[in-house]
Amino acid sequence: MMKTFKTTFNIGISQKALSKGFVVPLKINFKSTPHIILVAPSGAGKTYALKYILRQLAEADSLIYLCDFKAIDFSAMSDCPNYFKHSDVNKGLEVVFELMQKRINGDVGCEQPCYLVFDEWAGFLASTPKKSQEEYKQRLASILMLGRGLGIYVILTLQRADSSNFSSGARDNFGVALGLGRLSKESARMLFPDETDVIEAKPRGKGYLRVDGKPLTEISIPTIKDMSKTDLIIRRALLSSDEGGH
Ligand SMILES: Nc1ncnc2c1ncn2[C@@H]1O[C@H](COP(=O)(O)OP(=O)(O)O)[C@@H](O)[C@H]1O
Ligand SMILES: [Mg+2]
Repeated sequence: MMKTFKTTFNIGISQKALSKGFVVPLKINFKSTPHIILVAPSGAGKTYALKYILRQLAEADSLIYLCDFKAIDFSAMSDCPNYFKHSDVNKGLEVVFELMQKRINGDVGCEQPCYLVFDEWAGFLASTPKKSQEEYKQRLASILMLGRGLGIYVILTLQRADSSNFSSGARDNFGVALGLGRLSKESARMLFPDETDVIEAKPRGKGYLRVDGKPLTEISIPTIKDMSKTDLIIRRALLSSDEGGH
């Protein structure tokens, strides 16, 4: 029997409920609202939030490719085939782009959801020459546009949501926007264009969530109690070189 994969995950917990003493998870389904853009200044909890999500993706037997430009927080994964660091992160982008071609051509099945997780996208772009920047932005735009129907999803973090980091129109393909900590006016405007006025500075690990078709919600990223176990679970998923040929 064909395995059905889970694509609904907790992205955090409701801050409103939390302030009343309840823990209510905020769920997203990649199939209905594909791709997450996560923006927060340095130290406001991007990588931490990624680990919270990555663990769930890993536990659901997802195919994960992790691109870690800074290469500080995922040292436990450094020898994994699906982990790319420093200037090698473009290879992760390339591998997912090629997998997408294979899925389009019907060479491999689309059953196993695939996640391209990119920590510090803008930092990576800034480190590469202009010409390659355009090429990488174009690659990303294709995955954002075509990935959805092929079970390929993107999770991207940046310190600021500047439009120069995307090909024109590519940003509109993110079904989920998450902003944490103290967002610049510019970031707030890009992530939450209809609600910019209500956005306030938040502490680390807290902020706002916009899921397409739903009202803006205040969100809190919960504490990860067992970080070393979380790292191990993520590591195990990144060791898998299965390319979705189920
Ligand atoms: N939701 C959270 N709960 C507890 N600690 C957090 C949370 N978010 C971030 N931290 C801690 O704050 C520090 C900075 O977080 P990090 O995710 O590395 O920020 P960024 O990736 O945005 O620079 C880390 O030491 C991390 O463990
Ligand atoms: Mg980080």
